[in-house]
Amino acid sequence: MKNFTPIPEQYQVTPFRQDTYLVNGDLRKWKGEFADIYSTISSTDNYAPTLLGSVPALGESQALEALHSACEAYNKGKGLWPTMKVKDRIACMLKFVQQMKKQRDEVVKLMMWEIGKSLEDSTKEFDRTVEYIYDTIDAYKALDHESSTFVKRDGVYAHIRRGPLGVVLCLGPYNYPLNETFALIIPALIMGNTVIFKPAKHGVLLFTPLLEAFQSSFPRGVINILYGRGRVVAPPIMQSGRVEVLALIGNSKTANVLQDQHPKKNRLRLVFGLEAKNPAVILPDANLELAVDECVKGALSFNGQRCTALKIIYVHEKVKDKFLEMFTKRVDALKYGNPWDDKVMLTPLPEVEKPAYIAELIDDALAKGAKILNKRGGERTENFIFPAVLYPVTTNMRAYKEEQFGPLVPVKPFSHINEIIDEISDSNYGQQISLFGEDAYELSPLIDTLVNLVCRVNLNSLCQRGPDVFPFTGRKDSAVGTLSVHDALRSFSIRTFVASRDNDYNNKIVENLLHTGASNFMNTDYIL
Ligand code: G3H
Repeated sequence: MKNFTPIPEQYQVTPFRQDTYLVNGDLRKWKGEFADIYSTISSTDNYAPTLLGSVPALGESQALEALHSACEAYNKGKGLWPTMKVKDRIACMLKFVQQMKKQRDEVVKLMMWEIGKSLEDSTKEFDRTVEYIYDTIDAYKALDHESSTFVKRDGVYAHIRRGPLGVVLCLGPYNYPLNETFALIIPALIMGNTVIFKPAKHGVLLFTPLLEAFQSSFPRGVINILYGRGRVVAPPIMQSGRVEVLALIGNSKTANVLQDQHPKKNRLRLVFGLEAKNPAVILPDANLELAVDECVKGALSFNGQRCTALKIIYVHEKVKDKFLEMFTKRVDALKYGNPWDDKVMLTPLPEVEKPAYIAELIDDALAKGAKILNKRGGERTENFIFPAVLYPVTTNMRAYKEEQFGPLVPVKPFSHINEIIDEISDSNYGQQISLFGEDAYELSPLIDTLVNLVCRVNLNSLCQRGPDVFPFTGRKDSAVGTLSVHDALRSFSIRTFVASRDNDYNNKIVENLLHTGASNFMNTDYIL
């Protein structure tokens, strides 16, 4: 594996200092310490990480400043943003997305450098996020339309809508730094909440081109963006007890530590996308060409750094030899290179320690009786380890138990489907599964059971989050709450309503409220 190829001119970078952070509508200049951001991609023949720039290493007082700003913008429910008319909130969001679209090339370039995602996938992530914003606006209009009415029961009229919850702390992941983060921030904002957001450890500088769009599109304090270490800035915000929603895509360990810091856990709404170890199951009658194709993409797109990646493959004894022969060949043929290289699938890993971690999992499996089946499996460079197909994996191996979140494919044989059901039921994860087979009588009982153990059964296809209008959730340690364009609006809001007894006195007042248009909540107008 070659670790250096000259960087094409259009993708070269000059290090820059991001010296502001967004609080109370101001891009505040930071004069304290900075943290350098490096890419694991080398710009020189002799391997060396590339310096991309630096960001403020903010501390507790800046975190509390952002919290204060978000609380002020919510202003006990009286704030401009939580009381704003639906059409005006939509106008702010449209203004933001218009400006965001102009930054596409810059964001995509930084994404490639910061997290090593291929040009094709980085571009897809950007475009998918823009589409997510437009879809969210449409879903919000539909929600508003449904609520623009009165219902009557037992002599009481009710005007029921969904209202904001308050201050939301959003923490996104490094693997989808834009899409997954925006899938939290955008619905949280549009429902009238105020937000504090801190990017993940990797994928930080790519928000620089968007800071002005955030600053100029929303009222003061509605969105606040912090930099620094999560363990420094997040605890004081949580300990204040003034956060109503903790929205996090990451792991359950961080999620538990953070929610434990809230003094009134019962008040805290949780929106979590967490770890997963989605299995693929290859049944004896599976179309093996198709199964191999989907398993290669499912396990190794973006080096396996997707929460939805296939992280273990169960293959039936009857087809294991054929499947493994085809699968290992396909894995060895995958192209490794820099994100902008043509048709590249495997790219440098953004976490410096990841190759060594994957190597540990391999060594553990080899010591316990597994073998690496593909020729290139385990080949190393400074920033990469070629995916190893490990076989046969057993339940005592780390590769079986841990979410590798990287280039490694554990494969386990099975002879009866009940073995798999038991293992999935015992596992701590519960996101999705890929099921490869054809026979309706074999598939039916399996589907009927598996839908009760995970939240999406993918028939003859890889696991994935998209399309983003579908519900994305999980059981056990894999998620709390449901995200999708439609569900996220519900996750970040609460049903709240005005009730009035049906009598002449009240009806006249209600009619007047509607007639004057003075209330933004009590309103039966809707936007087409
Ligand atoms: O990392 C988890 C992502 O939500 C996965 O999304 O299935 O579209 O790659 P994806």
